Amino acid sequence: MILDPQEISPEAKIEIDRRFLHGKEMIKQAGEKALDYFNRRDELVIETKTDPQDVVSIADQNVEEIIRNLTRAVFPGDGYLGEEHGQEAGTNDYLWVIDPIDGTACFLTGMRSWCISIALMKGDKIAAGFVYDPNTDELFTALAGHGAQLNDKAIKTYDIKSVTEGVMGIGTSHRIPPSELLPFLDKLLSSGGMFIRNGSCALMMSYVAAGRLIGYFEPHINSWDCLAGIILIEEAGGWSSPFLDQDGLNKGNPILATASGVAQDLRQMANLA
Ligand code: IPD
Ligand code: CA
Ligand code: CA
Repeated sequence: MILDPQEISPEAKIEIDRRFLHGKEMIKQAGEKALDYFNRRDELVIETKTDPQDVVSIADQNVEEIIRNLTRAVFPGDGYLGEEHGQEAGTNDYLWVIDPIDGTACFLTGMRSWCISIALMKGDKIAAGFVYDPNTDELFTALAGHGAQLNDKAIKTYDIKSVTEGVMGIGTSHRIPPSELLPFLDKLLSSGGMFIRNGSCALMMSYVAAGRLIGYFEPHINSWDCLAGIILIEEAGGWSSPFLDQDGLNKGNPILATASGVAQDLRQMANLA
């Protein structure tokens, strides 16, 4: 799933490095705009998608547009897959996978657990990931083969052996029945574990990479929510389920991504062993 830098040409490495630098700058600009919308959220018209819990506003749509425009200006042939504006094919094999605001329900009700999540793919591999929280000015980044960073300082997943030693991030949605989550929670709690759900998959996965949470599980998630989180966690020394199998990019899949020392136990609890 993660690009192996040994398998690409020196020219491709330069191209990816250029996009990594661009991503770090561009996501902060998009974050400023998102924070501005957040501070004026009473003016926003809230629409619902198919599920009344699945909300969206002009903030989501415009922030995604800003990300695409800033990137198009520098890398005209790149493609896009975004939650709000869908797929736009490029003329090369670079694809930006974008969630302009992850944690929209929190954003619109005034809670600060939301972020911007962007992944860069080269072909079918994840080359880089960016998660920016404008509320705390925390920028989580990962570049394939070069580790994961928080505000440019290296981060590592939690060094633990048992689920009793920390807290697990959980997500769920009405895309799946409750029965796909509840057995996992039962097993986690029965094993002495604990969980938190803050409403943003990308933020919780970044916290796994930074060693704040022991792992993240959600029975169905979309690629724009989790691809940046996957490379962050793997580059920080953790383990991830094979999310991209069976067209996870377009259809979504379950995600389990964890600190390595608890991966085996959590895989059994999630029935992903
Ligand atoms: C949602 C959040 C939530 C997760 C849902 C996602 P959105 O994304 O990441 O934590 O449980 O599955 O749809 O709608 O806030 O961008
Ligand atoms: Ca999302
Ligand atoms: Ca979103």
